[in-house]
Amino acid sequence: MATTSIATRVERLRQVSRRADVASRPDLIELSKGEPDLRTPAPVVAAMHEALDAGWTHYSSGPGELELRQVLVEDANRRFGTSYRASECIITHGGAAAITSTALALIDPGDTVVTADPSYSLYRDAVALAGGELLEVEIRPGDEAEGLRRLARRAIAEDAGLIMLCNPVNPSGATYSRAALEGLAAELAESDIRVLLDEAYEAYVYEEGAFATALSIPRLRERLIFCQTFSKTYAMTGWRIGYILTTDVVALGAILDVHKTFNNTINTAVQRAAIAAVRTRDATIPAMLRDYSRRREHVMERIAAFPGVRFVAPLGAFYVFFEYAYDIPSVELRNRLVEDYGVALRPGAEFGDAGEHHLRLSYTYSLETLDAGLDRLEWAFIELAATVPAS
Ligand SMILES: Cc1ncc(COP(=O)(O)O)c(C=O)c1O
Repeated sequence: MATTSIATRVERLRQVSRRADVASRPDLIELSKGEPDLRTPAPVVAAMHEALDAGWTHYSSGPGELELRQVLVEDANRRFGTSYRASECIITHGGAAAITSTALALIDPGDTVVTADPSYSLYRDAVALAGGELLEVEIRPGDEAEGLRRLARRAIAEDAGLIMLCNPVNPSGATYSRAALEGLAAELAESDIRVLLDEAYEAYVYEEGAFATALSIPRLRERLIFCQTFSKTYAMTGWRIGYILTTDVVALGAILDVHKTFNNTINTAVQRAAIAAVRTRDATIPAMLRDYSRRREHVMERIAAFPGVRFVAPLGAFYVFFEYAYDIPSVELRNRLVEDYGVALRPGAEFGDAGEHHLRLSYTYSLETLDAGLDRLEWAFIELAATVPAS
């Protein structure tokens, strides 16, 4: 007998998810994706070919190739003075699986999880899949240090078991400094709340000192579940590889159980290529950072000239998250921009209530594409200024 029933958890996921697919049209200029247009560095591609030729085509071990885990912990230990061991690292199917495995491993139905508003929209979905309740605490640009303290106090008051944060922040490009993270650690000192820190954009920070990795904050370490991905750092979105570092053996064991159930193991040849990515990072990342930096300056300059628009300069990642002063919800405006002007951005509401009346533009596109999209956007805002009341 055919049945239309599906799992309640999926129904719930659909209800809470704000991750809408973009409506398309043939001549659409896409400025919505968090997807680097730059090529994966040549040494990584070469290492992949070599790995396949050498027969790295079989199962890996559950937590991942030992050599890759060693390279990753040595890299972290060298750069941030930590003392992680390879046994405290799990290779995951991208950052998404690192985050979702952690959620499924640590959250029970009804548990409260706290995140910043706005934040990467996957947290909402991962928590929903696990049956938890996501509590979003607004953190305004420029208020990151006090915002994190407030968020920690709220997590304690609500008896939350887990805090999920990204730094730099998707969508705003805001960053948490060392002082802000120290403040978070201080507030949590007497609690047993775990902190998932997702540093997908760690390599792309445009102002010295604005960002600190959670790995460099000793007081956070015992509660830290550090999630990282090769996707953004090395322009490797399609390779699907990321990792978790944590000294929390209880969490680690639980995450590994979820990971093994979902993935068994991760692509072996990709893990060989990932070793090359880490080993050559000093030769490849600076050029990508310069490239994004040029685009960032250009895009900020152009958006600043749009009527009724304002934003705080993003210090990291590759997005400009701008607020508009017109009385139209961001999902509706996104649709109108696609249908009437042929340019796609992401609606701010996807990232939390505080993201309403914002749009996220991604500058992971060539300057020509950016300019063509920005021309359309500028025209749209000139028309909005003339036709839509201010909010
Ligand atoms: C903050 C953040 N974390 C994690 C991810 C997921 O990365 P991956 O492609 O490795 O799953 C993204 C992707 O947009 C992101 O913005």
